[in-house]
Amino acid sequence: MNGRDLVRSMKAVGSAGAAQRLRTVRAAWRTRRADAAGLPARGAERARVPGPVQDVEPGPGGGVVRFSRSELRITVAVNGAVFWGWDGAGPEPSYALAGRSPEPDPRAVLEPDKDGGWRVVAERATVVVSRHGAVEVQTPGGVTLRRDLPPRWWEPVDGGTARWMQRSEVAADARFFGLGGRASGPRLRDGTYRLWNTDPGHAFGPGDDPLYLTMPVQLVVADAATHLVFHDTTWDGTVTLREGEEGAGSGHDRPGTSELRMSGGPLRCWVMVGTPARVLLAWASLTGAPALPPAWALGYQHARWGFGSEQEVRRIVAGYQERDLPLDAVHLDIDHYDEHQVFTVDHDRFPKLPQLAEDLRRDGVRLVSILDPAVRAEPGNAVYDAGTVVDAFVRDGAGQLVRGEVWPGESVFPDFTHARVRKWWGGLYEERLGQGFAGFWHDMNEPTSFAAFGESTLPRSARHALEGRGGDHREAHNVYGLCMARAAYEGLRELAPRERPFVFSRSGWAGLQRYGGTWSGDVATGWPGLRASLSLVMGLGLCGVPYSGPDVGGFDGRPSPELYLRWFQLGAYLPLFRTHASLRAGRREPWEFGPEVLEHARVALAERRRLLPYFMTLAHLARRTGTPYVRPLWWGIPEDRALRDCEDAFLLGDCLLVAPVLDPGADRRAVQLPRGRWYDTATGRAYDGPGQILVDAPLSRIPVLARAGAVLPVRGEDGGLELEVWAPARGRTGGGLVVPDAGDGWEEPEIERYVARRQGQKVVVEREGEDGVSAPPHPVRVRGVEER
Ligand code: GLC
Repeated sequence: MNGRDLVRSMKAVGSAGAAQRLRTVRAAWRTRRADAAGLPARGAERARVPGPVQDVEPGPGGGVVRFSRSELRITVAVNGAVFWGWDGAGPEPSYALAGRSPEPDPRAVLEPDKDGGWRVVAERATVVVSRHGAVEVQTPGGVTLRRDLPPRWWEPVDGGTARWMQRSEVAADARFFGLGGRASGPRLRDGTYRLWNTDPGHAFGPGDDPLYLTMPVQLVVADAATHLVFHDTTWDGTVTLREGEEGAGSGHDRPGTSELRMSGGPLRCWVMVGTPARVLLAWASLTGAPALPPAWALGYQHARWGFGSEQEVRRIVAGYQERDLPLDAVHLDIDHYDEHQVFTVDHDRFPKLPQLAEDLRRDGVRLVSILDPAVRAEPGNAVYDAGTVVDAFVRDGAGQLVRGEVWPGESVFPDFTHARVRKWWGGLYEERLGQGFAGFWHDMNEPTSFAAFGESTLPRSARHALEGRGGDHREAHNVYGLCMARAAYEGLRELAPRERPFVFSRSGWAGLQRYGGTWSGDVATGWPGLRASLSLVMGLGLCGVPYSGPDVGGFDGRPSPELYLRWFQLGAYLPLFRTHASLRAGRREPWEFGPEVLEHARVALAERRRLLPYFMTLAHLARRTGTPYVRPLWWGIPEDRALRDCEDAFLLGDCLLVAPVLDPGADRRAVQLPRGRWYDTATGRAYDGPGQILVDAPLSRIPVLARAGAVLPVRGEDGGLELEVWAPARGRTGGGLVVPDAGDGWEEPEIERYVARRQGQKVVVEREGEDGVSAPPHPVRVRGVEER
């Protein structure tokens, strides 16, 4: 490190004390040294492509196509997903899959294609392999959705991990979404996106990439069909995207391109084709159904780094009660720990935590605990001692513990890629349950280790069990948070078998939804941060992680009252609705921004509470179908180009269209409507889509439109379930699904199906059952009849 680096790194760690600064410099040096000693030097490499086709070997669901320098295995699975892997890669082992790889579809067979190529014809897609190893995915009608050029590997001459590149073409009209949580989406514009979970080290905005939760999942939406492609490789990599261009008149189309470069790992992928809903269903069947949050986690939650004491928590909760503001959970950050050490309590400031938890619970407020993976490396620290006994912590190639620098000081890191370690860690949640915590907020699990220069994570040479296969951090890094979530989820299921666990995690990977959700991390306070927070929720939903939300108000600094309110109003319609901020930021309680903001926030809170049965229904539907609660406007009509480019509004389930205000000073905004009739829920006015409309967006509310014919479950004045029905347009019918709340256990409530139709001025709503229709068992409130 030169002098300039040192100065820069000192600045990077900001106001931390000199001792800590020194430790982060030391940590960075340690990482560099470890990698210099523990990783093979990048020597000469040899490039390889598959070469010409040699022969084939049909097998169940497809078969193997052999080339002179590689082989390609293709399998169509019974859920309609297509797998292919190069160089002998099969679908297992995989951190993404929920269980075993699905069975092959025996109807899919490998057959000769023209020009010496081969193809596999399946129900939803045809895969065509050229003589030189290009792989094309086509719709059943023969339209090409994706064309992978023959891959290219670079192999170290002295042996070791090959890096590889896969270049693909997609339709000229296609749009890219996904890649995990991205601040600049949800439509991923031309640029390079990195696949390496990263704490940016500062509050982030739309320009920051990568962030905490990346995954090699692309959802590609085009006129011909939507497809999802997942490259099942956990290593560091980049994806360079370039949208195509359609030729005007007689001009030629330029296809879109995606270039994936991976530093290692198998070259294998899954592809799913169909409508967005079908694709997400197949994805959930492959990687697991989203965990169902308990009902309270669909309410409003409040956090702050630095409540600092039990009295302060009580004071804040009383503040909500006095003002008659609904509150469902309070989150305690690291300041409630004893010197930041996980699974401890600062007894001076929080002397009676279980009592506090019990008192809050009586008032309907749950306590949620933050949990960081770093364990202070100090004999006498109970977690460190217990972890040492089970050999839980990550070591380097020489067998030494890998040390990093996190909140508790010099720390070690559990190796969650080992079943024994997950079991041990999961058991530690007993202490948390004993303190009265009902939910768990995983943080710093990229994992993050502060470093004055270089990357803020473990050395790449650090060793991991990887389920007994053995490997290093290059392979384990991206699944560290995922495996930590698994440890917690499985531990909690054993410790409290009657309750559904509530876990949400800053980092993760494909499959995180099996264990819980996520949140947007340290989003910067500012209007760009507000926009970024919506992009993250939408993008993650399209990658199969439907439960997430931002730090309302932004993590750092102090939002203007207007910004806070607009963020709050958006948050009220997102799955995780939570106010939170940094130790150094201003407060985020709704009464901190003046009486006007308080009144408008109260309306947003009341509406969230009223919509709770709808959120519960959406959570159940997400679990059963993989469909996210928050969907882009094009969800049901992906061929609508105008909707495909619209990123400032979203559908909440089938019934509502939410158009948040994302700019300062606005009191009206344009809304791009999908086809059909929509009612402004505030004014009752009806609009007919498709097309753009201008609606009022006064400070008191953001525009929310209801789809004509929608039947949505809401909470009535008496707390019981009611059906809110929006009149179908004349000559049309409508309907909706309702999944009633069945408590926080594992009971599977039956889905209620409703139909709505119009009889003159009247709207008739009926429940559809196996033996025909019947009157709904809930009160019905019809809206929108008076309109034209
Ligand atoms: C990280 C988290 C943030 C938390 C803070 C202190 O910055 O992202 O949510 O408040 O650490 O634990």
